[in-house]
Amino acid sequence: LSNSGEFYDIAFKVMLVGDSGVGKSCLLVRFKDGAFLAGSFISTVGIDFRIWDTAGQERFRSVTHAYYRDAHALLLLYDVTNKASFDNIQAWLTEIHEFSQQNVVIMLLGNKADSTHERIVKREEGEKLAKEFGVPFMETSAKSGLNVELAFTAVAKELK
Ligand code: GTP
Ligand code: MG
Repeated sequence: LSNSGEFYDIAFKVMLVGDSGVGKSCLLVRFKDGAFLAGSFISTVGIDFRIWDTAGQERFRSVTHAYYRDAHALLLLYDVTNKASFDNIQAWLTEIHEFSQQNVVIMLLGNKADSTHERIVKREEGEKLAKEFGVPFMETSAKSGLNVELAFTAVAKELK
């Protein structure tokens, strides 16, 4: 039963993970405000799509671990202007594999793609890493809205 009182066929739990400051909370806000199309797509297929925002800060990590277990999908973010957040993706994936279900849907997102001048991580580097780990990849911007709807819709499609 959803908040609005409707029944759904399936309920999915999607989590946003990645280093502190990569833009997880902003991406979720952008999706909720601007995602009319994605919203209608999701209700069309009868999915209750619950998105959990997590804290990237190390001191909250143990709390996050507990939530991985029943997650159906994980949106793993790095910040294209922050090399460390990109370098940490491998560690995030190790953690994900340790704590989440084996069949969890993972998508890698390079956020802040709008920051042309500050960009450090090239699009090709993100693509290469995603290929290495066999996960889909997209660059997003919570600021401009680039691919935000598409990312959530793609995950919903993977899940159904
Ligand atoms: P934690 O909650 O600490 O794990 O961080 P977070 O991943 O939720 O980051 P948050 O969404 O709070 O964003 C961090 C900063 O990045 C904020 O100052 C945002 O304004 C900025 N930001 C987020 N997304 C974008 C984006 O797409 N483009 C640009 N230019 N800035 C962004
Ligand atoms: Mg946050």
